[in-house]
Amino acid sequence: MDVRKALPPYRIKVVEPIPFLTAEERRRALAEAGYNPFNLRADQITIDLLSDSGTGATSAAQEAAAALGDESYAGARSWFRFRDEVRDLTGYPRILPVHQGRAGERILFGSLLKPGQICVSNTHFDTTHANVVLAGAEPRDLPCPEAADLDSAEPFKGNIDLAALERTLTGPEGRRVGLVLMTITNNGLGAQPVSMANLAAARELCRRHGVPFFLDAARFAENAWLVNQREPGYGTWTPRQIATRAFQLADGCVVSLKKDGLAAIGGFIGLRDDDLYAECEANLIATEGFSTYGGLAGHDLERLTQGLREVVDPAYLRSRAASTERLAELLDDVGVATLRPAGIHALYLNAGRLLPHLSPREFPGHALGCQLFLDGGIRCAELGSLYLGEMDEHHRLLTPAPFELVRLAIPRRVYTDTHLEYVAAVLADVAKDPERVRGYRIVSSPPLLRHFKVRLEPLPPATGRHVATYG
Ligand code: F0G
Repeated sequence: MDVRKALPPYRIKVVEPIPFLTAEERRRALAEAGYNPFNLRADQITIDLLSDSGTGATSAAQEAAAALGDESYAGARSWFRFRDEVRDLTGYPRILPVHQGRAGERILFGSLLKPGQICVSNTHFDTTHANVVLAGAEPRDLPCPEAADLDSAEPFKGNIDLAALERTLTGPEGRRVGLVLMTITNNGLGAQPVSMANLAAARELCRRHGVPFFLDAARFAENAWLVNQREPGYGTWTPRQIATRAFQLADGCVVSLKKDGLAAIGGFIGLRDDDLYAECEANLIATEGFSTYGGLAGHDLERLTQGLREVVDPAYLRSRAASTERLAELLDDVGVATLRPAGIHALYLNAGRLLPHLSPREFPGHALGCQLFLDGGIRCAELGSLYLGEMDEHHRLLTPAPFELVRLAIPRRVYTDTHLEYVAAVLADVAKDPERVRGYRIVSSPPLLRHFKVRLEPLPPATGRHVATYG
């Protein structure tokens, strides 16, 4: 890694202490949490890689802007500053603020999707999936075939499968497709970016078939950076120009600003259609707040307005991407496989490959996540059979997930490369003796959104009875 490229364009002014528990304290904490990292307390965690959402550090300029927050119920100055910035970035004339992405999804899908319709995506994020279902529609993921190879260097594994999209639109179900939603970057599929060519081709198919084409653009700036770096023809475009072009390709968007808004809370819906806007606005006023604040305080809007300017700084994006890539290289050096090529907001560990003695029924991804906490106080999220597998009523795994992954999500401007080196060191120790990692079984599980509230217990030490054939 060239440190000249990785140098962050900021220095740190305000810091927060991080807890260091003893191994015995961590063991007790995890047992009390039912072996589910979602149940841990933040003051038990040394490095928190559970999510990059709302977990970033703000800048001095954002905090200064927050002091200008206008808390008027309607027509606040902060709203107009926010609206103008978002309009300028996206080109959409109609903007509705929401307190976070999923509120935007609920409001948008409530108007855009009718019961029985299909929502097609490269990959729905979990709340997006849930909100499509709550609107009475059916979410359908059509990731590109390249996404199935975790190791290849394909630059745009986040793409939608255009041939499958065309087949769906022209086939017998074509009339039922109510929306095509492209997630940039593709969080459900390894933080992989979507190319501009793929966006343009998908939009053209949608136009031909009269289907609305929207973006779920929570990581629009990170996608833009990867386009700049990887897609021929965009090397001279700024990240902001690329992001604006991506928004222009769509009929509208829903955006969680807890990621590339560089703030703890926020989101928006961007629209061109006046009727759709009016319907969404009525829903927003009834459920989120008046249409000039949408559940946000004036000071939140101010932080976001400034955050949207900072997030497209090429020096910031370059250094963040380099930091994630460096962690991937450190892990590669110690024999821990990650989903390649590295994205920006997260690294996905191939737990199936690291822990071949555990079968999917013993949840290798979850086991690895728990081990990272036990060994190093690191918290992360499983993306494997515990989260995505199909279970029977006794919580026995019927169909495993295609891969057993663990997501290390990297908060923005929060951890230094030394923190990430620590993560790599903890993982290196696991890789030296992977067989000591025990599997888990479910003790109790809620019927919906299992991974948040499930409780588990460790199985007796592995006996080497399973050798994985996947991943
Ligand atoms: N879309 C994508 C692609 C997301 O990653 C998220 C959230 C949302 C929508 C929902 O936004 O949280 O503001 O309501 N992702 C977080 C994560 C939670 O950890 O990946 P929200």
